Formats: sequence, structure tokens, C-alpha cells
Amino acid sequence: ALGTAAATLAAYLIGSLSFAVIVSRAMGLADPRSYGSGNPGATNVLRSGSKAAAIVTLLLDAAKGWLPVMLVKWFGPAYGLGEGAQALAGLAAFLGHLYPVFFAFKGGKGVATALGVLLAFEPLLAGATLATFVIIVLFFRYVSLASIVAAVFAPAYYLLGDGVAWAASGAKALAMTAMALLLIYRHRENIRRLLAGTESRLGSKKS
Ligand code: G3P
Repeated sequence: ALGTAAATLAAYLIGSLSFAVIVSRAMGLADPRSYGSGNPGATNVLRSGSKAAAIVTLLLDAAKGWLPVMLVKWFGPAYGLGEGAQALAGLAAFLGHLYPVFFAFKGGKGVATALGVLLAFEPLLAGATLATFVIIVLFFRYVSLASIVAAVFAPAYYLLGDGVAWAASGAKALAMTAMALLLIYRHRENIRRLLAGTESRLGSKKS
């Protein structure tokens, strides 16, 4: 129990590293919370005009979801940590991104971090979810819409792809479902803009 608590806390702290803000600062760019959608995420960093900063943000925000789960997967068994601890680590990293202790609890929407967690949970599932995201972005050019649709499909793929795994790893299924719901909740402004027809398309500088 102590091991699980320590791993969960560490994952939350890693998740709290808001790389959109950190990378922008390191590269001498404006704070992503000050322009566009105001969201500290790769999509909004792209609105700064720096593709490199956006890609680095995307990779690091995904890595901070992937790494804590993998660390528990690799080293956890020696300390009695199993699937449940992996699920908690993933969820904690995701929550760190949304509510970062280092940034006044004002974080992002969790898209990249959730993808990293999924990749650690189940690479095939992450691939299917990413493919869904890419198809929607290519067709509609709304990252927010693609994120929401992918969030709906990820738990569905998990359920459809392997009902046995769902039963065997209820913890990961629960973590995924919680991430999907929170991710959609964090996109509530985007949903309003999508419905109003005012959402900005990929690459455009507006909010
Ligand atoms: O990266 C999150 C994305 O789905 C939406 O970001 O900046 O357009 O609100 P943004």
C-alpha cells in the first residue's frame, strides 16, 4: 500500500510538469496561457508559430504519462505492485497534467498525457486511438473534436478488443474511463465553440 501511494504521488508530481509552459519558457516563447485558447498544451503552443516547440511539448507531455506507468510495470513487481498500481500511476500523471501542483493547479486538457498512458497500458489500443484522432484531424482540422472523439473511442476499443482484459484489468479500464470523462469535461469551452462554429482550426492563430 505504501509502495502504491509513493508511486501514485511520484506520478502526480511528474504529471504536474506543464511542458507547454516549461518548453515555451526554455525556447524564449510567450507563455501559452497568455494567447490563443490559453491552454498549456501542444495545440496551443503551435499557435505561437513554433512547430518545434509544439512537437517537443507533445512528446514530453506524452512521455510524462508513459514513463510512470512503465516504471511501475518494470520495477513494481519487486515491491508487490501490480496492474492496480499501474492504473493509479497513469491516472495520477494525467491528473497532474490537468491540476499541476507547480502551476497553481491550472493545467491542460490531458490529450497528449492520456495518449502516453494508453501507450503504456496497451500499445495496440494507443495505436487505434491515435489513428482515430488523426483521421478526425485530417477530415475536420479541429484538434479538440479529434481529442473528444478519440476519448470516446478509447474505452470502446478496449471493451470491444478484449472483453476478457476488461474484466481482468478492471483498474486500467476504470482509469481509462475516468481519463476519457475528465478529458471531455476539460474541453467544455471547445465544445461550446465547436457548436457555435467559432472553434479555431489546426494551425490557425485564433482561440
Ligand atoms: O490540446 C488540447 C486540444 O484538444 C485543444 O486545445 O488549445 O485548441 O483548446 P485548444
